[in-house]
Amino acid sequence: MNLKDYVTVVPDYPKEGITFKDITTIMDNGEAYKFATDEIVKYAQELNTDLIVGPEARGFIIGCPVAYALEIGFAPVRKPGKLPRETVSVDYDLEYGQDTLTIHSDAIKPGQRVLIVDDLLATGGTIGATIALVEKLGGIVVGCAFIIELSYLNGRDKLKGYDMRALITY
Ligand code: PRP
Repeated sequence: MNLKDYVTVVPDYPKEGITFKDITTIMDNGEAYKFATDEIVKYAQELNTDLIVGPEARGFIIGCPVAYALEIGFAPVRKPGKLPRETVSVDYDLEYGQDTLTIHSDAIKPGQRVLIVDDLLATGGTIGATIALVEKLGGIVVGCAFIIELSYLNGRDKLKGYDMRALITY
């Protein structure tokens, strides 16, 4: 299957000059969604993954079916104020300003082999902060998996030294 055929390219969204890659047309097609999930499941198996971690919101859509298929856990990374118990947090830079991501302090046991999953690698800010959160809790980041990599934004530079796989590259 050529998964790229199921991505919808939306010009000038969310603003003029930006070409948005919409993965909802992968998800609303059962075969394409299963194909994408199975590819990441295989990658997770190669890496002997113990736990999937995904940042909100689209990281949940991709990461949860992978965790379910492998019968392992999923830990959500969320924006501040969304998780009810004790958290750790990491600040990261955006093009203009800063943002913060959080995870429950007990979400990862030290030494657990964690695969981070998200829909898209753009500048790498989100994934860089998610890696920092996992490592703060003593987890081992065994890899990072994405449906799409926007290679022209050089997010890969933030993943130096980490294994990564993207199913589609633009
Ligand atoms: C998007 C996408 C990734 C992130 C990638 O999420 O789902 O998580 O941006 O960008 P980066 O590599 O430049 O950090 P968004 O922040 O739009 O949140 P959402 O999934 O909740 O819509």
